[in-house]
Amino acid sequence: MNKIALIYGSDTGMTEEIVHNIVDDWSASEIDVIEVSNVKKEDFERFDNFILGLSTWYDGDLQSDWEEYYDEFKTIDFTNKTVAIFGLGDQYGYGEFFVDGVGMLAEVVLKNGGKLIGKWSCEEYDFEKSKAQIEGEDNFYGLALDEDNEPEKTPERLQKWLKQIESEF
Ligand SMILES: Cc1cc2nc3c(=O)[nH]c(=O)nc-3n(C[C@H](O)[C@H](O)[C@H](O)COP(=O)(O)O)c2cc1C
Repeated sequence: MNKIALIYGSDTGMTEEIVHNIVDDWSASEIDVIEVSNVKKEDFERFDNFILGLSTWYDGDLQSDWEEYYDEFKTIDFTNKTVAIFGLGDQYGYGEFFVDGVGMLAEVVLKNGGKLIGKWSCEEYDFEKSKAQIEGEDNFYGLALDEDNEPEKTPERLQKWLKQIESEF
């Protein structure tokens, strides 16, 4: 398997913590971790496989560094690239915008020719609306984690998802 770039942004450190767990658990190939505040367009050209991580803020906004990078992100050609996305959110506090950021990144990846892997069932979650939900499906575009309300479920969700994307990459 080719090297993977894990690109993430985190406001209060919750997503960053998950990134550490992914790095510890990932054994399938080499993984390069890049904070989105440092990422360059060339980084997206250098790799074929990506894991993107972010949280959602302020009623459906991207995490602040992703928000700053979003205009350039929209110009990236994802042809022949494979992408898995995970997002953190709060399904009870922000149930109308749960992990919206996952959907906002997924939309760009798909529009720009990329292959998305790692979709994840919505079944276990309790929310009203989410841009991360695939239209007409009971699935998210990527893994949803809720450290605010269900931190105890995170290790199992993460391990299962990592296995899934390892076989899909
Ligand atoms: C002011 C505020 C706004 C938030 N807005 C959303 C939101 O719109 N949707 C969502 O799913 N989570 C929302 N959250 C929850 C965060 O995404 C969650 O706490 C996450 O774990 C933060 O991760 P980070 O520290 O990596 O940024 C919000 C949290 C706060 C404090």
